Amino acid sequence: MSELALDALHHETRRFPPPEDLAREANATAETYAAAETDRLGFWEEQARALSWEAPWSQVLDWQRPFSKWFVGGRLNACVNAVDRHVENGAGEKVAFHWIGDGERERRDVTYADLQREVCKAANALTSLNVKAGDRVTIYMPMIPETVVTMLACARIGAPHNVVFCGFSSDSLRGRILDSDSRVVVTTDGQFRRGAPTPVKPAVDEALEACPDVRSVLVVRRTGDEVAWNDARDVWWHDVVDSASDQHEAAAFDAEHPLFMMYTSGTTAKPKGILHTTGGYLTHVSATHRLVFDLKPDRDIYWCAADIGWITGHSYIVYGPLINQATSLMYEGTPHPNDKARWWKLIQDHKVTILYTAPTTIRTLMKWGAEELEPYDLSSLRLLGSVGEPINPEAWMWYRDTVGGGRTPVVDTWWQTETGGIMITPLPGVTATKPGAAMTPFPGVSADVVDNDGKSVPDGGGGFLVLTEPWPGMLRGIWGDDERYKQTYWSRFEGVYFAGDGAKRDEDGDLWLLGRVDDVMNVSGHRISTTEVEHALVSHPSVAEAAVVGATDATTGQAIVAFVTPRGSVAEDESSGDEFVQSLRDHVAKQIGPIAKPRQVLVTPELPKTRSGKIMRRLLRDIAEHRELGDVTTLLDPTVTDAIRERMAGGSEKEE
Ligand code: WT7
Repeated sequence: MSELALDALHHETRRFPPPEDLAREANATAETYAAAETDRLGFWEEQARALSWEAPWSQVLDWQRPFSKWFVGGRLNACVNAVDRHVENGAGEKVAFHWIGDGERERRDVTYADLQREVCKAANALTSLNVKAGDRVTIYMPMIPETVVTMLACARIGAPHNVVFCGFSSDSLRGRILDSDSRVVVTTDGQFRRGAPTPVKPAVDEALEACPDVRSVLVVRRTGDEVAWNDARDVWWHDVVDSASDQHEAAAFDAEHPLFMMYTSGTTAKPKGILHTTGGYLTHVSATHRLVFDLKPDRDIYWCAADIGWITGHSYIVYGPLINQATSLMYEGTPHPNDKARWWKLIQDHKVTILYTAPTTIRTLMKWGAEELEPYDLSSLRLLGSVGEPINPEAWMWYRDTVGGGRTPVVDTWWQTETGGIMITPLPGVTATKPGAAMTPFPGVSADVVDNDGKSVPDGGGGFLVLTEPWPGMLRGIWGDDERYKQTYWSRFEGVYFAGDGAKRDEDGDLWLLGRVDDVMNVSGHRISTTEVEHALVSHPSVAEAAVVGATDATTGQAIVAFVTPRGSVAEDESSGDEFVQSLRDHVAKQIGPIAKPRQVLVTPELPKTRSGKIMRRLLRDIAEHRELGDVTTLLDPTVTDAIRERMAGGSEKEE
């Protein structure tokens, strides 16, 4: 653990006990912790019983470290649990999603009965495209109800979905289609971004130039813009889904049947397909959604402001809330400076009671100022959640006091794509919270903070966060690569799962997350690998070598800073210009997606290396964060850093 991160830790003494009215009726009480403490597996079984099972399990957990099976022998259908059973129980007319378009005028209310009809049609359409149980379907779609419908239709027929965030490039999409070996892709003609239509399908067309096995592309008409059409492959949603029967009998699948995969960045250039299965995942996300957000289906309007293209959207827009019969707000847009009050208007107009978002968004809204929200009535809010990166105490306090009017508990929830659901979090009716701390493992979750040798640190100590027992929502592996699964998560410390995060346990034993300790950056709550960006940079014909680091950024948490040495063939005046830097930034956006565009690119004749030839990333990070440099005696050529620093101070950096 870097000393710097430890030093930066706030010595926080403020405590916020749960509001009495919330505590009185809370879904989770001190008893919940006690029950899980006494019988961990029994606790998870109890949570699993909230689902509808076609056949019961015969064994809660089969643990062949590091591979787990949960609810062995149990059979269920994910979509039936999320949709059909609510309709059968008379809640068909209940709104599942108040969907709000990016523009001002578009909105759609989708009830559970609507969902059931649409999902049945889509399931029939996918079946007519010859999608069978076990076949992977890649979904590349914006934040529209059809995206949820497609996911649920896949789940209904047992075809694992592979949702790729719509902001990823065609190259990234292609890699994910190929690795998952998807034969069918679902997409849209375009999407609306900040009021303007932007194309989506062209990225799919480009990706498919090198995916010969994809036989069908199902296209939702969203913007109505002209698109290129391949008659042999492309089919319109309105042709095959709208005309399909709205009757579909759902079969039950094994609890360990793959539900979905989701690619995420690791420390190497190749994203990993994180695999999640059915029974354990659904148990985990529905239990955490009910207990962490204290969800009351008849009273709450719940808004998780994530994108469905990330795990937060899967677990806490789609599966958790639907299983709990929630009414959610689903918003297509993201906060933007031309409409700073949109969020507050949405909360007021829809009487949102629970809001779940990322620190980077909170900081952006905070920057725009309290005066933006003052004209609005936000008194409906009763609970606020944070996820994606460590939340700084200032943002936490602003969230609680200014957004929540000082009434609302803030739950800072730590988890990962790999964990499937929330792992470390306060429980709103039980935990006295501290600004910036994720506090305690969720009931039934076992976590520890260990030192370099894997020894548990005492209270007050810092180290690495590990998970010491299996949990139902845990990844079942990396798609097609068991070895990498073992290597990545289970090799750093004997017998325990290493998350890649640094953490501190304070004097009271409460947990504070300190950010990644590996070569993974966290930009606006999105995981981006330094290696992946480096690979993108060196694929540019003018680049010889590249090193990428994450530098602290006041809004996005971390920002990408790249150090690049041009090839010898590139003339000095060419490589020193703004245009060159811009072309490199664009190149990365094209290769990976706009989210991976470096904030700064620094062109330098050489990179600082140790005598053994390793790039000194820590030093580059110090430079990027304008810190005094520490020990550079192992450096091959100490003058290199001076040269880089000079350039950094000069005009060759580019910020947006
Ligand atoms: C990484 C996982 C979990 C869904 C969104 C991100 C960081 C996540 C917190 C938090 C501190 C957090 C960690 C983790 N992270 N939540 N509350 N406090 N750090 O999912 O893309 O899989 O990223 O996000 O570094 O390892 P992801």
